[in-house]
Amino acid sequence: MGYRTTCLWYNRYRPIFIEESGVDTLQIKQFTRAEKRDLVIERLKKMPELGDMDIAHNIGVSRSFVWKIRQELIGQGVLKKRENTNDDSWSRHPYLVANKELLAGLSEKSLIALRTDGVLSKMQEIGSLSPRYAQRLLHKERKAANKSTAVNILESDVKVFQADIRSGLPEIADGSVQLCFVDIPYHRRAIEELTPHIAMTASRILSDGGSLLLMVGGSHLNIVLEKLTQAADKSLRFQWDILYVCPRGTPLIQGRRVTTAVKHIIWMVKGKYSGPIQHDLIFAPPDPDNADKELYYHGQSTVAVREILERWSSSGDTICDFMCGGGSVAVAAHELGGRKLILSDINPEAVAITKKRIAEILNANRGQVH
Ligand SMILES: C[S@@+](CC[C@H](N)C(=O)[O-])C[C@H]1O[C@@H](n2cnc3c(N)ncnc32)[C@H](O)[C@@H]1O
Repeated sequence: MGYRTTCLWYNRYRPIFIEESGVDTLQIKQFTRAEKRDLVIERLKKMPELGDMDIAHNIGVSRSFVWKIRQELIGQGVLKKRENTNDDSWSRHPYLVANKELLAGLSEKSLIALRTDGVLSKMQEIGSLSPRYAQRLLHKERKAANKSTAVNILESDVKVFQADIRSGLPEIADGSVQLCFVDIPYHRRAIEELTPHIAMTASRILSDGGSLLLMVGGSHLNIVLEKLTQAADKSLRFQWDILYVCPRGTPLIQGRRVTTAVKHIIWMVKGKYSGPIQHDLIFAPPDPDNADKELYYHGQSTVAVREILERWSSSGDTICDFMCGGGSVAVAAHELGGRKLILSDINPEAVAITKKRIAEILNANRGQVH
């Protein structure tokens, strides 16, 4: 993108802050501790077999938080102990009664698997004689269900508005965002002028430990780094450079005599990052239906954006993209579920496309979201 001439919206528009009616305007709300607790209880009741870590990761709480709630539910008799050797109800399961030979020659591990909640029913369902296979299958299914039961985007979780980043985005409260993902125009002028505003806004709105991921082409990487580190107060510091590989093509950057297949995502952190270990490579296949480029010329691959959001945010987090373009972040966040969004762009056309995409998602989901 850096090698094409495109119009810079920030030159054509004065800073404007229009909150249009439509799929926006409700307050962005963080999950409270009590709400997180309810989510954990719901998951534990539906999927007691899931590990505490899986649930914790998906909801964005600590493992001990989940463990304590599990113990409470066990104490109240709502959940069974995970492996209760005194409980012999498994031995009366109709599948076992009908297939007594199942027990013959079972190893210790297979016997434990067989006694585990749900395994005999799963074996019955798929007609299997292998408790460990059924247990693995059950675990896989429950893990997938854990992901998909995350709340997809709700109307109340999305705020979309038109704004110039140079305003500092006063609409967004201090410390209310866990991840800023921004794909800046790659022209030198845009980078020089807008990067300091991006850094200042991100350092104000990010919560402690939150990340700014700034995507940019290679041509002016030096300027981006210089501006980011100069503009930000001491709370925002350089963490790493993530390479974003675009198999769509390898455009020639004539002036530098380079053909390039990568973009850079400069990762800045407010305070100290304590999230998962990150690999510094992301593959960005084009959207299968080409929606990324067809809907908005600068649109990013939703597959890759989804990976970014999944790796750098947790369920319940608020993600902000203040150069949202065609709304790839909205689509990716919806697919992922459980995130709240604040999206803005100076270009009214971009805002309209983003709103339309969100409206389509919400309409398709009506009656399904809970
Ligand atoms: C590279 S595109 C973003 C594409 C987007 N990530 C997507 O997937 O569709 C950069 C965006 O920055 C916006 N922009 C340019 N100047 C801006 C400014 N001063 N404030 C806010 N947005 C601006 C443009 O309108 C454009 O949509």
